Amino acid sequence: MSSSDSLTVTIVGGGNMGTAVLRSLASTKANIRLATRSQATLDAYAASHNAEPFQAPDATHRACVGADIVVLALKPAAILATAAFLAKDAADGTPRLADGTVVVSLAAGLSLAALHGALPPNVVVIRGMPSTPMAIGSGTLSLAAADPAHKASADALVALTTLFEPAADAVVTVPEDAMHAVTALAGSGPAYIFAMAEAFLDAGSILGLEPQLARDLVRGTIVGAASYLASHDDFPATRLRTEVTSPNGTTAAALSVLDERNWRAILVDAIRAGAARSVEMGKALDDMAAAAAAEPSTDA
Ligand SMILES: NC(=O)c1ccc[n+]([C@@H]2O[C@H](COP(=O)([O-])OP(=O)(O)OC[C@H]3O[C@@H](n4cnc5c(N)ncnc54)[C@H](OP(=O)(O)O)[C@@H]3O)[C@@H](O)[C@H]2O)c1
Repeated sequence: MSSSDSLTVTIVGGGNMGTAVLRSLASTKANIRLATRSQATLDAYAASHNAEPFQAPDATHRACVGADIVVLALKPAAILATAAFLAKDAADGTPRLADGTVVVSLAAGLSLAALHGALPPNVVVIRGMPSTPMAIGSGTLSLAAADPAHKASADALVALTTLFEPAADAVVTVPEDAMHAVTALAGSGPAYIFAMAEAFLDAGSILGLEPQLARDLVRGTIVGAASYLASHDDFPATRLRTEVTSPNGTTAAALSVLDERNWRAILVDAIRAGAARSVEMGKALDDMAAAAAAEPSTDA
């Protein structure tokens, strides 16, 4: 695969994740193409992010011609339909993707086995779990390949890591069976922090702070705490919490309420529920993929 500078990356899907990936790559020198169904999304993002626009589904094939990397940022069922469409030309049965094209599915739960079954055998299939902060070059991207030691997969993982490292706080490769935990922890993770921000705002309101003042304080507190934690190499969450917690002080009073209500166990249970849902979705999607594999290909 060529260097990141000359890569052509096609993003199929212009929703939350597709546009986050589009924005994350805006600062790279890769050639970006965006294929999405809605003209409004194309108008809003393609021009402002210097991406070549393609209206899906008709132009999905054209958007993928000559692409080194195709990022499928679609809901899982739409990924399966698009994969079937890309797998073979309706007229002559040949794959619509060039040999060695790296296809990255961002769908939660959709297994590599299901993706391999749906996509043509000449492509390299990677599962990715991003998070929406990638839109500002932050957050995480976790990658998995069925056989990460295989040369084509290993090369693809290196290329994707190099491409996305400037666009995230962490780009990691994990075994596929860790993807359920990764999804619940890091893919969904920003939502838990946003929910916490909402609760902070509720507290500010109950304690009589003006909404704008409360927003400024909550933003500064969450951004400040995250940046401070990130500024240390050894991730000293416990030490930094202890530093803020004087014995018998205000922080201790607040944390004792959280501890009395066993908030850590609640959060752990919540993340386990997310992982369990990912397993459940994966099983349903495997069944859907098996059923789709028995169908003739149709346009996505
Ligand atoms: N949101 C997250 O934080 C997050 C995190 C990690 C992973 N993911 C994964 O990312 C994937 C996308 O999620 P999302 O939140 O971005 O969903 P979304 O906001 O609903 O976006 C999906 C987009 O796909 C477009 N679309 C549907 N069919 C299409 C087709 N055939 N060709 C081109 N575009 C098509 C839709 O276009 P129209 O609007 O025009 O219909 C829509 O904009 C999901 O599989 C999800 O599991 C999401």
